[in-house]
Amino acid sequence: MLRRLIRLFQKAPTEQTDEHGIVLDSVPNHVAIIMDGNGRWAKRRGLPRIAGHRAGMQAVKEITTAADDIGVKVLTLYAFSTENWKRPTDEVDFLMRLPEEFLRMELDTLMKRNCRIRILGHPEGLPEHTRKVVQDAERKTKDNTGLILNIALNYGSRAEMIQAVKQIAQQVADGTLQVDDIDEQSMEKSLLTHGLPDPDLMIRTSGEVRLSNFLLWQAAYTELWFTNMFWPDFKRDDFYHAIREFQSRGRRFGGLK
Ligand code: IPE
Ligand code: IPE
Ligand code: MG
Repeated sequence: MLRRLIRLFQKAPTEQTDEHGIVLDSVPNHVAIIMDGNGRWAKRRGLPRIAGHRAGMQAVKEITTAADDIGVKVLTLYAFSTENWKRPTDEVDFLMRLPEEFLRMELDTLMKRNCRIRILGHPEGLPEHTRKVVQDAERKTKDNTGLILNIALNYGSRAEMIQAVKQIAQQVADGTLQVDDIDEQSMEKSLLTHGLPDPDLMIRTSGEVRLSNFLLWQAAYTELWFTNMFWPDFKRDDFYHAIREFQSRGRRFGGLK
């Protein structure tokens, strides 16, 4: 009897969940998304691939809002990889105009939400007009303290790591860093994601089950979640479904629970 009473008192206080069943105090800090399947979404409708990219923009808007609403701190969206330059020029040109279109429509709303835009990638490889609009948006939102919307544009993990290794090698050559002092922190400091926490959850749409050169270093202990849905069909409820599944997993980081 006494033991039962003690157990009753020891029971964890009931977790606070919101109306979507999300546990409010264990929302992932950083969610990364490989937004894939725009082309197939369009093809299925007999539309050109670019129609899929435009439809994908609506999903970006919806998921950014959904993430901000539950208190995600960093949302990283894979918009264009260093390998996507291999696509036909028309498609690449269209994709390079999309950030402009997106920001023209959404920047005010993002500003009101206190959202900070950051571009993750190699800006020097972008066409001038794209670079200008995204850097303007970074500047305008730089003092905002809410959700960090990290847009991976001309991003490739291998290029990022090569750049980091070069930076470290230069410090060694300059004598400001000893080889023995190179550690995970020196690497992290030299990556494009410096200052950001590693992603807790990575989502990929479209049924492909691979990372496609996205955040290879940072995803060492990230929970991965895949869905067959195409990106333009991915809605707030689907995002929250992924978050709930994330919350039901046990993360061990190599240790024991
Ligand atoms: C993702 O959709 C967007 C980008 C890679 C720019 P895709 O364009 O890769 O669509 P699928 O994979 O061909 O369906
Ligand atoms: C990954 O998708 C890149 C982005 C979503 C921006 P891809 O469609 O380029 O990847 P693969 O070619 O199927 O691996
Ligand atoms: Mg694809």
